Amino acid sequence: MPSIEIDGQKVEFSEGQTILEAARSAGVYIPAICYLSGCSPTVACKMCMVEVEGKRVYACNTKPKANTKVATKTAALVAERQMIMQTYDVNHPLECGVCDKSGECELQDMTHRTLVDRQPFSVRDNLKPFAFWAQASYDPNLCIMCERCVTTCSDNIGDSNLKASKASLHAPDKFKESMPKDPFSVWSRKQKGMIAFVGDTPCYDCGECIAVCPVGAIVYKDFSYKANAWELKHIDSTCMHCAAGCLLDYQVRHFDTLGEEQKIFRVGNDFYHNPICGAGRFAFDLKASTKGSSNIEQAVQKLKEAKAVYVGGDLSNEEAYLLEQMRQTCGFKLHNSKLYAYQEFLKTFSPTPHDLKDLKSSSCVLSLGSRLKNENPLLKYALANVLKVNKGTSLIYAHPLEDMAIEKMSRSVVPVCHAVGAEEIILGAFLMALGVESPSLESLKASALVEPEPEPAESAEGAENAEGEATAEPKKAEQKPPVYAMLENAKCDSPTFEKIKGLVEKAPSIALLIGPEIYTHPKAHNIALMLQEASKLDKLKIFLIPPSANALGIVSLCTLEKDSHASPSVGVRTKGDFVLDSDCVDQNGQVQNQVDFILPSFSQMEASMVNLEGRVLALRPALAYEGLDFADIAQHFGFYGETLAEYTQELPQDKGFLGVAYDDLTNFYANDKSNHRGYKLQSTPSQATESSQPITPIESAPELNAYLQFAETQFNTHTIKSQNLQLKEGIYTSKAHLESLGLVEGTTIRLSKEGRTLTGKIYIDHSLKRGVFMASPSLDTGGVFASPFETLEWERA
Ligand code: SF4
Ligand code: SF4
Ligand code: SF4
Ligand code: FES
Repeated sequence: MPSIEIDGQKVEFSEGQTILEAARSAGVYIPAICYLSGCSPTVACKMCMVEVEGKRVYACNTKPKANTKVATKTAALVAERQMIMQTYDVNHPLECGVCDKSGECELQDMTHRTLVDRQPFSVRDNLKPFAFWAQASYDPNLCIMCERCVTTCSDNIGDSNLKASKASLHAPDKFKESMPKDPFSVWSRKQKGMIAFVGDTPCYDCGECIAVCPVGAIVYKDFSYKANAWELKHIDSTCMHCAAGCLLDYQVRHFDTLGEEQKIFRVGNDFYHNPICGAGRFAFDLKASTKGSSNIEQAVQKLKEAKAVYVGGDLSNEEAYLLEQMRQTCGFKLHNSKLYAYQEFLKTFSPTPHDLKDLKSSSCVLSLGSRLKNENPLLKYALANVLKVNKGTSLIYAHPLEDMAIEKMSRSVVPVCHAVGAEEIILGAFLMALGVESPSLESLKASALVEPEPEPAESAEGAENAEGEATAEPKKAEQKPPVYAMLENAKCDSPTFEKIKGLVEKAPSIALLIGPEIYTHPKAHNIALMLQEASKLDKLKIFLIPPSANALGIVSLCTLEKDSHASPSVGVRTKGDFVLDSDCVDQNGQVQNQVDFILPSFSQMEASMVNLEGRVLALRPALAYEGLDFADIAQHFGFYGETLAEYTQELPQDKGFLGVAYDDLTNFYANDKSNHRGYKLQSTPSQATESSQPITPIESAPELNAYLQFAETQFNTHTIKSQNLQLKEGIYTSKAHLESLGLVEGTTIRLSKEGRTLTGKIYIDHSLKRGVFMASPSLDTGGVFASPFETLEWERA
């Protein structure tokens, strides 16, 4: 590996790294405030100034040259950094005693590190007005204009809702002559600027701007003045709202006078490596009643009598393992229709799960069968990042519904708004563009319409060159690309297909995201075979998005069967005649989920899950749970363990688990961006022996006007109970559609089909473009949805 020398220390670097990244990877400290790992540098703070062979550069935006010498601590650099901190400290309100950031503030930290002990500058104070957006409260008077909030919203989240704007303040120009260039520019920027929310639509919650702010300028509104940073205990855990399994940092403290009961005050994240969405950050308000239930004999009896046990998508690995063992002795059947479809799909095509860094290194990403933003925000964030940072990357986003939030991420997004049910054909288009050899494509290729006669050449004998001389070769008429009838019917018209083909052909590495709508598709088996054939292509990496938080863990551990609606039934973390689940008590003590036997919530458990990267990750308890849990129930079936965590190392090795004990599951990212979270499930890629069948055309596609999907940040029937999230359970539609129907947000409407009805309140989803009703699956859907896309009648309820 090439190397440089930083202050006499040899530091190796890899291609694409900046001096700052190489230094961080090697554990060498260079001061920096504004830089966010993996994002475009704003070069706002200038603190990373260094000298390369005597020349001043900024380490965060300079690529190293092999064998050069970098100095970070010359007298001039040290003095200027100190001056920058003095300018940052000028008129910074002296609120540290009550500031939410005090104790973990980078301004405090850097002021000490640069040994600021006096203030040679002064300027008249001028108050700037507060601002509020989503769950954020912004005090511009504390803001140092590092623009980390702007950068993360644009480069990590893909929303670009924030912007550095001008504050109407006096300029600090009186120091222009007496200050070095860099400190003056930092000061000028800080004095004259403030952050403005410039989103066209409201934003819903990710809160990354709060997380990245190095000072107390942007804070979580409900945390303000509630606790001091240094009093909070940090507990690293894993988010179980969706299959991304993000790394969470629960920040807890007692809240009763005896100091006995813990409460989560806020949730942080390692924003350098893992941005999180609103559910992970704010839906921490629900927990199970601490004392649990006492009717364990009844729960055991119900399980023994059950013919069917319905399995929730967010069971922990240990619960799923015990349930499977019980199934084998008790004879009940395990059901979950989505997970069953996923398990069947994996029997035909089961690729080794890739890491997100493989997605980020792809030059073209194809997405099929998922409304990504709603189903897996982390994937949307990874895409936003790669589209922003690697300018040549493109995203081909195929779905029957447009998603404005995805489309606005970059000009390199090619939306393919295809016909309902046409996923097999669209995958065929992708494979044909990729040049995959697959029997499935025969019918698609054969649907090429007879080509129009070529335009007659200008000269039948031969063409002429620029000088008008006859050339030897006759000029060929321009070859027109064929038009495929099957693609036209699927609403992937010829220009769109040619665009896909052009992007795919020139991309050296391609990622294909396959979403949960594919597993329940009527042609799922053939699609799995097509993917199996495509997976032989070296430049293609296929990611299967699990349909629920721990779907991959559950299908690895349990034998699921097709739904049969047998009775009596038990639901474990889902519906059933007898329900074992968290009762979801909110922070006001209100029970949000009536259950028959209480199980702990995932912020109260010692257990594990498997995320979409195939990592076995630890769930660590942030809140107390003193009640009985599934390990206690299992004891009545002859199992020895007193806690779920005792089973973590028992998880079967023939299913890919590695026998690692719960306490040995690590959970962090290193400075060099390497992932030290849990371990990778060892999967055996499937080897289908059959070949795919020719793709069949869709029968007349229904004109969809209803879609079954959770709103942003809601994910499942547990997340949706959170009172902390801005969006509510209901039916969502575009603003224009709501207005055209003469409705206002909050009106109750009824959707119906052939006598079956669904009722809910209507709200706006700004990412929807057309007249569609997006209904939450947690509503009593009354069977109106036979598939995720429907054509329904509507009326006011
Ligand atoms: S909450 Fe998220 S989307 Fe909204 S402004 Fe902050 S970073 Fe951007
Ligand atoms: S609000 Fe915070 S993150 Fe944003 S520019 Fe100001 S100090 Fe930086
Ligand atoms: S809901 Fe998903 S994307 Fe959001 S924080 Fe949790 S795991 Fe991450
Ligand atoms: S970290 Fe390089 S300029 Fe701020």
